[in-house]
Amino acid sequence: AFDAFDISENLGFLLEEPLTTLPDYYRVWLDLANNLTHLIESRKLRDQVHKAGSSSTGVHHSWDMYGRKDNMHPLRSSQKPWLSPIGREMEIGNLDMIFSFPGGESCRGFFIVSLLVDMAASSGITGTLEMKETFKLMHNHVDPAEFHGTLRMFFSGWRDNPMLPRGLLYEGVSNEPILLSGISAAQSSTIQCFDALLRIQHEDETQAFLTRMRDYMLPAHRQLIQTLYVCPSLRDFILSHSSSDLCQAYNSCVSALVDLRNYHLNSVTKYIIVPGNRVRAIGCPLRGVGPALNNTGTGGSNIMGFLKSVRDTTRKTLILEV
Ligand code: HEM
Ligand code: ALA
Repeated sequence: AFDAFDISENLGFLLEEPLTTLPDYYRVWLDLANNLTHLIESRKLRDQVHKAGSSSTGVHHSWDMYGRKDNMHPLRSSQKPWLSPIGREMEIGNLDMIFSFPGGESCRGFFIVSLLVDMAASSGITGTLEMKETFKLMHNHVDPAEFHGTLRMFFSGWRDNPMLPRGLLYEGVSNEPILLSGISAAQSSTIQCFDALLRIQHEDETQAFLTRMRDYMLPAHRQLIQTLYVCPSLRDFILSHSSSDLCQAYNSCVSALVDLRNYHLNSVTKYIIVPGNRVRAIGCPLRGVGPALNNTGTGGSNIMGFLKSVRDTTRKTLILEV
């Protein structure tokens, strides 16, 4: 089953051997990616992308949050393969990114901590507690002002984005504009997998967003989530057995998820809401991502309404009887 769903016993949904480079065909794009921060800061990126675009045609591939290849979408600058030294424990001090965005240590911190949070879940749902512990690293490595003001805008996409309501035209790829969501950890397979396992049924609109986020997962991981949803319901099984041990075990898993989601909500307040309010109070429209991303997540959700709905539904899934 590990192989069929492309999961690793030690690393969970992370790939054991991520790509560190791409075929020669992508040379021109790789050169840009390797130079991304400099090109953005010197305002040369747009010009270079234009040149690169006119010299390449054909099929484009994309890489998910953690640098995993997928041929579902046209190439977008969202690939983030990481480098890991062989034979040592993977930890924040010995992991680095191959490509990075502006934002210095906050950029590295955000991606590497997110990666480690996902890795902490490799032991299965009991890993939820460790995910929260690992999440705490965010505070030492990611500065709210730098995250909000410098890094975050590079995660935005062109689906559910009021500034690009029709999406983006990929010249030479399609005659119709293409809608693609921005980068968000809502695209991580881990939590959706746990939701499926515990049969947490989110509200319609909320679930529709989460389901859309699966388009950005590796197909094998998306398949695992779908397979778990069509399996007989664990929750129904427990309800029908009226065993207080089973109920307690189930509830402790659900509670750990509620706890993790509350911790996540607090982090969202610290890293998005508070800096957003500060920028608004100063009244400087050029700092940060502008009004469009103040109330919208980079994945395209309405942030607090969405995240609270997800948390509340998780809590309502607790089994109260017995
Ligand atoms: C969703 C922000 C770190 C997992 C979201 C959303 C926002 C957000 C705004 C709403 C979806 C969207 O429109 O993008 C943040 C911020 C973080 C952070 C500011 C840190 C500074 C993480 C980490 C993880 C994570 C480390 C775990 C790997 C999720 C999940 C969702 C989500 C699973 C979907 C909602 C759910 O299932 O509870 N995040 N996030 N986030 N994020 Fe984060
Ligand atoms: N999804 C996160 C945000 O909206 C990264 O800022």
